[in-house]
Order: sequence, then C-alpha cells, then structure tokens
Amino acid sequence: MEVVIVEGPEEVGALAAARIAELVAARPRAVLGVATGSSPLATYRALAARADAGLDLSRVSAFALDEYVGIRRDHPESYHAVVDREVVRPLGLDPALVHVPDGLAADLDAACEDYEAQIVAAGGIDLQLLGIGTNGHIGFNEPTSSLASRTRVKTLAPRTREDNARFFASAEEVPMHCLTQGLGTILDARRALLVAHGAAKARAIAEVVEGPVSSMWPGSVLQLHRRATVVIDEAAASELRLADYYRATVAHRAAVQPGA
Ligand code: F6R
Repeated sequence: MEVVIVEGPEEVGALAAARIAELVAARPRAVLGVATGSSPLATYRALAARADAGLDLSRVSAFALDEYVGIRRDHPESYHAVVDREVVRPLGLDPALVHVPDGLAADLDAACEDYEAQIVAAGGIDLQLLGIGTNGHIGFNEPTSSLASRTRVKTLAPRTREDNARFFASAEEVPMHCLTQGLGTILDARRALLVAHGAAKARAIAEVVEGPVSSMWPGSVLQLHRRATVVIDEAAASELRLADYYRATVAHRAAVQPGA
C-alpha cells in the first residue's frame, strides 16, 4: 500500500485530484468510483478548479459507492443529490454517464445485481475514490462485512448512523439501510485511492494500513489490492507506527523512479 502523508485536508484534496487528473488526461473516458461524505470534498473542489482551468471530464463515467435505502432522490442528503451537487455539476460530468445505486427500487437485490452489471458493462472502475468511517468501513461495508462481498443491502452500524447524524435534522432521520458496493467490488477497481483527514480517523487509518487484514476493520482489505494509495493529513496519520518510513519512501521515490 502506498501511504502519502501531507499537511492538512486541502493538501489531501490537491494530491488526490492530481492523481485523478493524471488518469483522465491519459484516459478521457476513464471510469471513476466516487465517494460521498466530507472526506472527498476537498478533492472535488480541487478537481473543479482543474475543470475550470481546462481539464475535460465530460466523457468520464462515475459510479457512486453507495446510497441510502428509502430516501427520496430530491432529499438533499440522498447520494443521488450529493453526487449531483458535489461531483456532476462542479466537475462538468455528463449526467447520463453517472450511476448511483437505486435505493428506492421495489426489488433491492435486483437493483444491486443490476449495479454490478452496469460496472462490468462500463469496462470496470479505473479508479475508486474512498473515504473511511471511524469504524473502518469503506463504502458502507460495516465491520464483519465479507471481504468478498458484492453490491448488496446493508444495515448501517449504530456508529455510522451517529457519525452521519450531522447531515440530517436528527440521528433518527438517518436511514437504517443502504445499498453499497461490496469489498470484492471495490477490490476489482484497477486503482483504489483512499483519502482521510482529521484525528477522528487516526485509529481507523492505523488499523487499515498497519493492522491485520480483518473484516472487523473492513478497509484493511485494501492491503490485498495491488494499487492502493492512502492519502492522509498529519492528524489522520498520528497513530501510524511507520509514519517516518512512509515519509522517507515518498521523499526518496525519485531515486528509484527517474522522472516520477
Ligand atoms: C460515502 C462512503 C463512506 C464515507 C465514510 C466517511 O460514500 O462510502 O464510506 O466515505 O463514512 O465519511 P466522511 O468522509 O463524511 O467522514
């Protein structure tokens, strides 16, 4: 796993956006996996600035990681609405190329299968952007999720509902269920890019990067990914035992990768 430690949240966003922009420059029809929540907002802001400066994202496809079950699409916190507001409009994506799981489907299991088929039909995800929950979830794959799981219905952990209460009028309003790409789905992405900032994420980052691969810290499954990068700020890195090693690796990279 590549671990890059930068100063603060804005630097996390700038570096993640640079990686995504590099991909899109090389592959204008890239397929991105997009996360919601607060972690990737700085990344989207930095990408929007690049779009304003001429980066063309109009042929990029996007697949959201997850969606709440039973929430109206025009609710401001539905992930349909969030992806539209934070990603599609500011980045200039074509809405016809943007996909979010259907949390209102009459047959939710069929909607999940259909979502997996849509990802396959698009050629698979080139780069999956991820945030991480304080309990180590990626997507809404809560602790004890199967490491091989595919897109499916999940019950949100009480911790996640508490963490996400800030987006709703009250904790009770946070939906109980969601559809989420599975850990196996995420592992299929050709690259994974996890962004995190702040001390509240420090424990999860330490467990995911340096702990054992375990469904108790679902993000640790990224240790099995061949091209996973974790971009974090100093606060989120504060519980890493090998932080100095990661810093040295980045500082001396040019010596082994000329031109990098
Ligand atoms: C969001 C998602 C979640 C969040 C995680 C962190 O689509 O899949 O895994 O990335 O809950 O949320 P924030 O960034 O709000 O702390």
